Amino acid sequence: MIDQFGRTVQYLRVSITDKCNLRCVYCMPMEGLPWLPREDLLTYEEIEQIIRTLAPMGLQRVRITGGEPLVRRDVPELARMLAAVPGIRDLSLSTNAVLLADEADALRTAGIQRLNVSLDSLRPDRVDAISRRPGSYPNIMAGLDAAERVGFAPIKINVVLIRGQNEDEIEDFAEITRERPWHVRFIEMMPTGANLDLAAKQFVSCTEALERVRAIADLEPVAGPFGNGPARYYQFRGAPGTIGVITPMSHNYCDRCNRMRLTADGQLRPCLFGHIQTNLRDPLRAGRDIRPLIDETLRIKPERHYLIQGSTLGSGGLVALSQTGG
Ligand code: 5AD
Ligand code: SF4
Repeated sequence: MIDQFGRTVQYLRVSITDKCNLRCVYCMPMEGLPWLPREDLLTYEEIEQIIRTLAPMGLQRVRITGGEPLVRRDVPELARMLAAVPGIRDLSLSTNAVLLADEADALRTAGIQRLNVSLDSLRPDRVDAISRRPGSYPNIMAGLDAAERVGFAPIKINVVLIRGQNEDEIEDFAEITRERPWHVRFIEMMPTGANLDLAAKQFVSCTEALERVRAIADLEPVAGPFGNGPARYYQFRGAPGTIGVITPMSHNYCDRCNRMRLTADGQLRPCLFGHIQTNLRDPLRAGRDIRPLIDETLRIKPERHYLIQGSTLGSGGLVALSQTGG
C-alpha cells in the first residue's frame, strides 16, 4: 500500500471501543462522550476479516487501542485471532494499564508482544488530578509490574506534557529510564474539541523537555526501541531505558506517516485528523468487497495535518483522540 506521496502504509491502529475508564484532562470530558451504540461496534470477527483483507495488501503491523481497549471483554481472544493472520508480524496494545494486571499474562500468551502505557505523572495525587478517576495509581503500577514480569518488550510510557501539572516531572521521568527498561516518550498536547483551552494555555514543547533532560546529564541520540512511530529517541549512557519525544505540534512528521486507523465503528481513517473516513462496516456486513474502498482511502490520504495550538481548525473538529484510537 503506497500512497500518492510515496509513503508506504503497513501499520493499522485498531480502536476496539470509544469508552474509557479514565477522563484525562486533555482527552475526554468529565461526563464522557456520546458512546457508540453497541450494534455499531465491529465484532471481533469483523475486525479479523478486515485485517485478513488488509494483510495481503501489505499490512504487517497492528496495534489494538481505544478509548481504553481493556474495558472491552475478551481482548486476549481478539489478540489470538489477529496474531494468527498470515503476514501480521507485529501486534501491540495501547492501554492506560488500570486493568492490565489481571490481563497481562493472557494478552502476552495470546500474541501481543509489546505495550504502550499512558502515564502522565509518577505521583499518585497527580495521576488522580490528570486522569480524574481517583485511586487508579496502584492499579496502573501493578499493571506495569505485571507487564514487565510476563515479558512485554519494549514497554513504552506515553507522557502528555501539561504546563503546571507535570512539566516539573520531566526530570523524574528521565531518571526512571536509568532504573527500569522503560522507553519514556514525551508527547506534545494536540488540540481537540474537548481540550481547546488547555491546549492553548498549558502547552509544553518537547524542545523544552529535552533541554530540561540535557541539564541532568548528556543524552546520546539512539535508534530507539522497535516500533512504528514518529518518536525520536535519546539515552543516558548505560541506561536500560530511553527517552523519546513525539512532536506533532513543533515538528511535523507527516512525511514519514506509515499508518491508517480503524475506528471502533468500522471507519477507515487515512489520517488522525481531518474529516476523511470510509465506512467499511456496512459494506462488510452487506458482503461486499471492501478492497476498492481501502484503495480509495489510501489514495486520498492527506499529505499532512495543519494543527495550530489551541485551534480545532486543523483537527477537523475532532472532539477527543479516544474517538479515533489516538
Ligand atoms: N494530545 C496528545 N496526546 C494525546 N493522547 C490522547 N489525547 C491526546 C492529545 N490531545 C495520548 C494518550 C495516549 C496516546 C495514544 O495519545 O495519552 O498515550
Ligand atoms: Fe482514556 Fe487514554 Fe483518553 Fe486518558 S487519554 S481518557 S486513558 S482514552
